[in-house]
Amino acid sequence: MSNIRAAITGVQGFIPEDILTNEELATMVDTNPEWITSRTGISERRILKGKLGTSYMAVEAVKGLLAKTGTRPEDIDLLIVGTVTPDFTFPATANLVASETGCVNAYSYDINAACSGFIYSLVTGAQHIESGRYKKVIVVGADKMSSIIDYSDRTTCVIFGDGAGAVLLEPSADENGLVDFILKSDGAGCKYLHKKAGGSVNPSNPRNVYGGDHYVYQEGQAVFKFAVVNMAQISYDIMERNGLTNESVNWLVPHQANKRIIDATAERMGLPPEKVMLNIQRYGNTTAGTIPLCLWDYESQLRKGDNLIISAFGGGFTWGAIYLRWAYDGK
Ligand code: UT7
Repeated sequence: MSNIRAAITGVQGFIPEDILTNEELATMVDTNPEWITSRTGISERRILKGKLGTSYMAVEAVKGLLAKTGTRPEDIDLLIVGTVTPDFTFPATANLVASETGCVNAYSYDINAACSGFIYSLVTGAQHIESGRYKKVIVVGADKMSSIIDYSDRTTCVIFGDGAGAVLLEPSADENGLVDFILKSDGAGCKYLHKKAGGSVNPSNPRNVYGGDHYVYQEGQAVFKFAVVNMAQISYDIMERNGLTNESVNWLVPHQANKRIIDATAERMGLPPEKVMLNIQRYGNTTAGTIPLCLWDYESQLRKGDNLIISAFGGGFTWGAIYLRWAYDGK
């Protein structure tokens, strides 16, 4: 391990204007607002309308981040986008975002780890800083889930939304920054959560387009069981491994998939609700977007030296947890 630590030195989010409420969904599919709120914690989600892709939201977040941190785009060394809804199969969405934001000296690539996309990308970006080779890395989590959701399927359309968030990573001036991480994956989870067509196994054709195979397929209950056990356990494990207690952890930053999964994770860690970041009620599950959007929403409450546990579980399966010491006082 090098003694350079990577710190988050700024965060910015972007959410589309259009709001899709539980009440509106109840006019589209056989559901009711009370079911959605009580089973998931979601009241509304944002939808990016028109012919705009994931990169549109990521670009807005990155532009805001550069302005807010007073960073020149030419000084960015690397830009990573965690996403499962890239603008195109190729090139990478990160390539488009880097060009559009003037990060002309950065190399850029996407990471596909579904709901763990942001934490996988954050760890990857941090290691580039720790190597000593790179000084400024932007990590984005962004998904336009509405582009792969079937709005006649009540089991998935109530859960997901669109959004993006971006952070700047720089070498830490002190002991704050990314301290530890545990990342896991298990491809055996594919059968419970995936998109059936559009890949090399089942390329797009009229039959699978009309058959609805280009939408998210999820066996909700099965995914729930894996998520609730693994996200809670990995969050507890990283706490224990770093000698942290429910007193010394200041914040849990959980992936926002279902409030019941978040509650179970907080309970396993012994954390009260006021230490848990929550915005699922407003944005739903934005996949790779949820964690940077939480950091953005709660930035003003964060203090230098705060102990954050960031954790996620998602398609793959992929899951993990990060222990990060926050590097600046939020305003
Ligand atoms: O972020 C990526 C990883 N994904 C996740 O972490 C998601 C994990 N899964 C979940 O969050 C939950 O499983 C869901 C929110 C997807 C579903 O909640 P659930 O409590 O597991 O519901 P269920 O699938 O067990 O279904 C219970 C009942 C069923 O009716 P019957 O068979 O009991 O009559 C469903 O048909 O609820 C029904 N149902 C609905 N009812 C009203 C399912 N979706 C809806 C709906 N509105 N939207």
